[in-house]
Amino acid sequence: VVLSYDLQKDVDLLLKRHLSEHSLNKDAFQNHSMSRNTSSLGKQGYNHLEPTAQMSAAKEKMLREKSLRLRIQQREWQESSEGLKMLEFRRSLPAYKERDALLKAISENQVVVVSGETGCGKTTQLPQYILESEIEAARGASCSLICTQPRRISAMAVSERVAAERGEQLGESVGYKIRLEGIKGRDTGLLFCTTGILLRRLLVDRNLRGVTHVIVDEIHERGMNEDFLLIVLKDLLPRRPDLRLILMSATLNAELFSSYFGGAPMLHIPGFTYPVRAHYLENILETTGYRLTPYNQIDDYGQEKVWKMQKQTMRKRKTQIASAVEDTLEAADYNGYSHRTQDSLSCWNPDSIGFNLIEHVLSHICKNERPGAVLVFMTGWEDINSLKDQLQAHPLLGDPSRVLLLACHGSMASTEQRLIFDRPPEGVRKIVLATNMAETSITINDVVFVVDCGKAKETSYDALNNTPCLLPTWISKAAARQRRGRAGRVQSGECYHLYPKCVYDAFSDYQLPELLRTPLQSLCLQIKSLDLGGISEFLSKALQPPEPLSVQNAVDFLKIIGALDENENLTVLGQNLSVLPVEPKLGKMLILGAMFKCLDPVMTVVAGLSVRDPFMTPFDKKDLAESAKAQFSGREFSDHIALIRAYEGWKDAEKQQSGYEYCWRNFLSAQTFKAIDSLRKQFFSLLKDTGLVGLDNESQNKWSHDEHLVRAIICAGLFPGVCSVVNKERSIMLKTMEDGQVLLYSNSVNAQEPKIPYPWLVFNEKIKVNSVFLRDSTAVSDSVLLLFGGDISRGAQDGHLKMLGGYLEFFMKPGLADIYLCLKRELEELIHYK
Ligand code: CDP
Ligand code: MG
Repeated sequence: VVLSYDLQKDVDLLLKRHLSEHSLNKDAFQNHSMSRNTSSLGKQGYNHLEPTAQMSAAKEKMLREKSLRLRIQQREWQESSEGLKMLEFRRSLPAYKERDALLKAISENQVVVVSGETGCGKTTQLPQYILESEIEAARGASCSLICTQPRRISAMAVSERVAAERGEQLGESVGYKIRLEGIKGRDTGLLFCTTGILLRRLLVDRNLRGVTHVIVDEIHERGMNEDFLLIVLKDLLPRRPDLRLILMSATLNAELFSSYFGGAPMLHIPGFTYPVRAHYLENILETTGYRLTPYNQIDDYGQEKVWKMQKQTMRKRKTQIASAVEDTLEAADYNGYSHRTQDSLSCWNPDSIGFNLIEHVLSHICKNERPGAVLVFMTGWEDINSLKDQLQAHPLLGDPSRVLLLACHGSMASTEQRLIFDRPPEGVRKIVLATNMAETSITINDVVFVVDCGKAKETSYDALNNTPCLLPTWISKAAARQRRGRAGRVQSGECYHLYPKCVYDAFSDYQLPELLRTPLQSLCLQIKSLDLGGISEFLSKALQPPEPLSVQNAVDFLKIIGALDENENLTVLGQNLSVLPVEPKLGKMLILGAMFKCLDPVMTVVAGLSVRDPFMTPFDKKDLAESAKAQFSGREFSDHIALIRAYEGWKDAEKQQSGYEYCWRNFLSAQTFKAIDSLRKQFFSLLKDTGLVGLDNESQNKWSHDEHLVRAIICAGLFPGVCSVVNKERSIMLKTMEDGQVLLYSNSVNAQEPKIPYPWLVFNEKIKVNSVFLRDSTAVSDSVLLLFGGDISRGAQDGHLKMLGGYLEFFMKPGLADIYLCLKRELEELIHYK
């Protein structure tokens, strides 16, 4: 499998070179890519001939005829009675007043930046204006617009809407394409797609041949893909002087983008919204008479732990918000409003949302406020689901004859989607629970009330641990304003911010771009797999480039785990890692799990490490919870093996419909297990795509019951996260090479042990507070570390040998280092001999 993967890459490269030398069109290459599995080595590519003069005349005639046909179709629709009605609506949008100015700017400049309030008609109208004017000028057949959306759902919803506005079915002049899905036809001149799709197209078609306009929507979100795309497009523009690039965004930060593209002109679409009154936590409590729940009644046991951790992370990030929240917390402590004593401050904890508070505000609106839909901003799909469950049990909010409760998220089906936009029957109040995607990319017209929890799930980069985390964090002022604005679409509205005003004041102005808050390891891998040249050179061209040191760290790390070779070239392992949606080192654990045929338990560990800990430690039942966890670990000295056993126990309990009871009894989170379950399914299908696992489940798990092997694979994945264990008289001394002495978090099974009969612990994560703390760990023996610590897929390479050798020397085990060197050399000779 591994060999054929490499071979395939070479064949692709050769073909690509051949194609560009002979300037054949991209379809030849795409045809080849599609047929790669049937191993016909791209005959199609060689059959294409240079177009002759005759052929091009015929083609021109065909294009002329098509343009004419499109123009007639467009006119017919616009003159029909339905078309007229639609035109009337479209002309009422603020964007319409700017139509001519926009078209003029676009024809005169290669890059234009457009901003305007959400709902003013950027996404649905602007691409249409260009399409219409091209069709009107009889260039319909040769115009090809691509408009990118950060999310799948908006690409689909918008294309459907635009097709309807043009009186067409999807797949005529308007289409969409998202991963694994899409509708597009021969006449499609306007294609909505996700940013990822355009990036992939750029890979096989560097010059975007045939594309006349690229529109990048929602650029203010500054997702990694969007920043990434801008670098690539900026490179492309000089090579394609006829290509037009339009950047669109709701909130204004246009100068940044304009100056990135050498002072591109900026156009603003003035919009009109009704005033929205803002309520902050203090007035919400006052007007609704709500008392925050005492801490120990909150159902989430992990609260205390999580809150503490969050506070530490914040301190580390030294953000402005951290100190404001802490000040607030301290002031509250001072007034007796402590998380420990009276009232919960959980609603200010970025890691949780006060569900009870939301429920209370919603029922207040339903009882006392005028009609109008409510939009609730939550952090993620899981929160939305749990809140929905809770609300459905409420006598008023759960009554379908009075309240229509809807959830809205990125991957929902389109029938569900439509309900969100429709008006509910008279007397029924629509409540939509949504993530931050409802901030800008979709518009629900009848919203009058907004409830804003103040948080959004955001990946962040923990530079200390080189670890990405997906945690709910405070939003920016721009995002809070945007959320509030959603209430003023049809009439004046109300916005309930579920945090104090002082917390709002401390929000940062704009969200930090994803590029600066994501660990760069995955990104660097991506740059390599997309074949975009030198990593640091590429990243230095970003809108806001990351620090060179963090780039270097990432590259070094990728070399250590064997994803890049000494010359920064992608290895076969690296290629496989680039398709797995987890940190590279965890991806490596998965791949090894597949290769060593113990996939099931390894998938559980990786999913657990990527989601969150299913073991809960309730504040008041800490001891019980810890001993429940210790039982899972038994004498294995491993949090990861405890996780595997707990998960398997849950699976069995689920079969007997007693999953919840099992979790309750063992202080586990059923919700987390469900998330782990769905992630495992995703891993499995991706691994199948890479060809690393076959269809037959049996052989994947031939050695799954062998906990020695599983332990070794865990070690292989977590290296170089390793510390030495020295059992002292009364305590255990742990040390890592970089930090010296380290400590274990108290909920680790190894923290309870008086002695650990193994010389090493491998761990996934460490956090520096006053001392350095390790999270979950697994004890391993010398031989396991020797054979599995580091890059076993690359065999004995000097750099790596030095690294692990140095590691062992450092811990005063020179003898081991020698044995290791011998073993690895033997291994290498064996491989060569073979
Ligand atoms: O992109 P922007 O936020 O500026 O607005 P848009 O998505 O182009 O939407 C313009 C208007 O079209 C909205 O205000 C809605 O009234 C309407 N629209 C709709 O009715 N149904 C949709 N699926 C999308 C938009
Ligand atoms: Mg839009």
